[in-house]
Amino acid sequence: MDILDELIADHRRLYSLLNLFEDELLAYAADEVVDLPLMQDIPIYYAEYFNRYHHPLEDCLFERLIDYGPQQQSSVDNAIGQHDGLKRATARLLTALDRALRDTVVIRAELVKSGRLFLRQNREHVRHEELRPFAQARQSLTIDATAQALRQRIDMDSGRRHYDITLASLQMETARPEMDLADYEQAQGALWH
Ligand SMILES: [Fe+2]
Ligand SMILES: [Fe+2]
Repeated sequence: MDILDELIADHRRLYSLLNLFEDELLAYAADEVVDLPLMQDIPIYYAEYFNRYHHPLEDCLFERLIDYGPQQQSSVDNAIGQHDGLKRATARLLTALDRALRDTVVIRAELVKSGRLFLRQNREHVRHEELRPFAQARQSLTIDATAQALRQRIDMDSGRRHYDITLASLQMETARPEMDLADYEQAQGALWH
């Protein structure tokens, strides 16, 4: 399994979590009883794994991609800019969830809005990465010493093991089957209209 396979495997696990989160968010929007701590676990996990490990690893990979072909600059800039946007979206969602859990004044619409933004940005981001920079990397890069070093840096971090376990327990609660990118986009539209 090379570094791109690992990143794509992360994306597939992320899909499952986003589906699970969306199920809860749809219920919340419909005024049904939801599992708020579970809803919170997902962006917490996201902040601590994807924002801290997955995206920075991609940033390293994307910088290397530019070394091989400066024409990749725009798709790489786009992906790196989306990482910043995802950090902000995660923080905003966590603030809304924190308010909901504390039973302070919470504007239901704000949680729904920030949740939907988190879902949409992530789905758009994964699609962009897999269609553009990942596809370009697959053609341009070999699994060389740099990629191996990056992988070792991630594997050696004990945080990953911990969050893989957390992720496995979250995934047990997800009911939807895994979908490919096209199915996912279609489902996203159908659920919210
Ligand atoms: Fe990314
Ligand atoms: Fe990614």
